[in-house]
Formats: sequence, C-alpha cells, structure tokens
Amino acid sequence: MQEILLNQCNIVKSINMNKKTILITGSSRGIGKAIAKLAVNSGYRVILHGKTDSPELKETEKELSIKDKLVFDISDKNECIPQIESWIENNGRIDVLVNNAGIAKNFLKDIQYVDNNKAIEEFNTNVIGTLNCIQAVLPSMKENQEGNIINIASIKGYPELSTLSTLTYATTKAGVISLTKSIAKAYANQGIRCNSISPGYIETDQVKDWNSETFDRIKNGTLAGRIGKPEEVANMVMFLASEQSSYINGEDILIDGGYRLKGK
Ligand SMILES: NC(=O)c1ccc[n+]([C@@H]2O[C@H](COP(=O)([O-])OP(=O)(O)OC[C@H]3O[C@@H](n4cnc5c(N)ncnc54)[C@H](OP(=O)(O)O)[C@@H]3O)[C@@H](O)[C@H]2O)c1
Repeated sequence: MQEILLNQCNIVKSINMNKKTILITGSSRGIGKAIAKLAVNSGYRVILHGKTDSPELKETEKELSIKDKLVFDISDKNECIPQIESWIENNGRIDVLVNNAGIAKNFLKDIQYVDNNKAIEEFNTNVIGTLNCIQAVLPSMKENQEGNIINIASIKGYPELSTLSTLTYATTKAGVISLTKSIAKAYANQGIRCNSISPGYIETDQVKDWNSETFDRIKNGTLAGRIGKPEEVANMVMFLASEQSSYINGEDILIDGGYRLKGK
C-alpha cells in the first residue's frame, strides 16, 4: 500500500515538474488577466504579477486559484531582476515570459503639451521594464537552451498608425517591436524565441476613459465593427507560447480587427 502511495506521489510530482511555467507581467487585470486565465486552463503553472499587491491582483489570484505571485515595478531593475532570479532559483525555471505590463500617459492635442515626466515613465515602463524582465530570465533560458519570450507591443508601434495624440506611447511600442527582433536574432541559436503581439483597440481599463465619440470612431474604423476582447489577444499569446508556433520567430502579430487595413 505504502509503495502504491509513493508511486502516486512521484507521478503527481513528475506531472507538476513537467508543467510549463509562464510569467505574465501586469496580470492583475485587462489583457494580462485574460492571458493568465487561458494559461491556467491550458495547464501552465502561472506566475501572476502586478506593480502593487492591489485588490485586483488579489482577486485574480483567488479567482484563478493561482499560488505563484510576484509584485514589483518592472521599471526598477533593482527590484525586478532579483525577484525573478530568486523565483527561478527556488522553483526551477520560467519557460515562457509574457511582457504584458505597460502604460500610456501622454494624450496630446498639441506637441507643445508633451509632459516629459510622463514620457519618461512610459519609456521606463514599456521599454526598460520589458528589457529588465528579459535580462532576468535569459541566463536560465540560455542554460536550458530553451525559452519563449512574448512582448505585448501595440498597433501604435506601427509607424503608419502612430498619431499625435499618443506620440510618446507610440515611440515606446515601436521600441518594443524593435527590441523583439534584436532578441530573436541574438538568441535563436540558443533555443530561445522572441515574438511580439500588437493589439489594436481592446476593451480594458486603458480605454475606459474614452467618450462615446471615440468609441464610435474606432468601431467605424475597424473591419470587425467593434473593439477587441482581451481573450482575443490571449489566444494568440497561447499559440506563440506553444510548439505549434515553433517556426515563428522575431515576428510581430497584429490583432486589430482589420483596423490597419481599413486605413483610418
Ligand atoms: N487595451 C488596449 O487597447 C491596448 C492596445 C494595445 C496595446 N496594449 C498593451 O497591452 C498591455 C496590457 O494593456 P491593458 O489594457 O490590459 O492594461 P491595464 O488594464 O491598464 O493593466 C496594466 C497592467 O500592467 C501593470 N503595470 C503597469 N505599470 C507597471 C509597472 N511599472 N510595473 C509593473 N506592472 C505594471 C498593472 O499593474 P497594477 O494593477 O499593479 O497597476 C496592470 O496589471 C500593455 O502593454 C498595453 O500597452 C493595450
């Protein structure tokens, strides 16, 4: 009897060890939460993350019954790198890193109104924060000769779709698309893939302050005739995280309901 129980324990342990681990930055809400939900349902061990241990993060943790959580500001290298490294040291490995956390701060009517502090905060979060997390996981991915990095950029990172109103945010997301390609080129020979996803307009807190006029303009400018859902971005993250996408590397995938094609 004891032998049977021991065998069962070993089977359960080996199933847990075989589970792939995914760290999703900014998974307290919005797109990150949708990715976390799908990753749990797909059998991943999920590490949730937020800038603070906010009520939303606690709620997500409870709702999805997730036990692994990290809390740090991604733009702060001294917090970000040691926390990720120590998680890896204590738990084994991170197979997939999803750099989802991001902010948009400057909304401009005129170039004269650029607030440099806000622009720097956007850059430090969207670009430096993404780089910090990549720096933290790369040594162990290199050691494993395996790893998968997925960065969430934006439709605004496409030069032809950048507008004055989100000019500073757009430059950071163009940076994310660019750094994705550099990482892909540099580490492909070590079994590491790096791709990005550029969502169009997705229904999350980032768009909650829009007025009805803006909503209508976006809907009318999209072939799908509607705003996107966080789950529609999460589906692509899961695909890129899987072996089904093994021949995709250094690519950016636009998920915009046909906004770019409609040409607004
Ligand atoms: N929604 C859209 O239409 C849209 C379109 C294109 C691209 N995107 C991109 O998609 C990603 C997710 O967007 P979303 O709309 O889901 O955002 P959201 O609802 O505003 O959530 C942002 C998440 O990022 C975290 N975060 C922000 N700054 C951080 C920092 N310095 N350190 C650590 N975590 C930080 C937040 O944590 P806390 O809860 O602790 O603050 C939160 O979990 C972003 O990169 C965004 O730029 C969104």
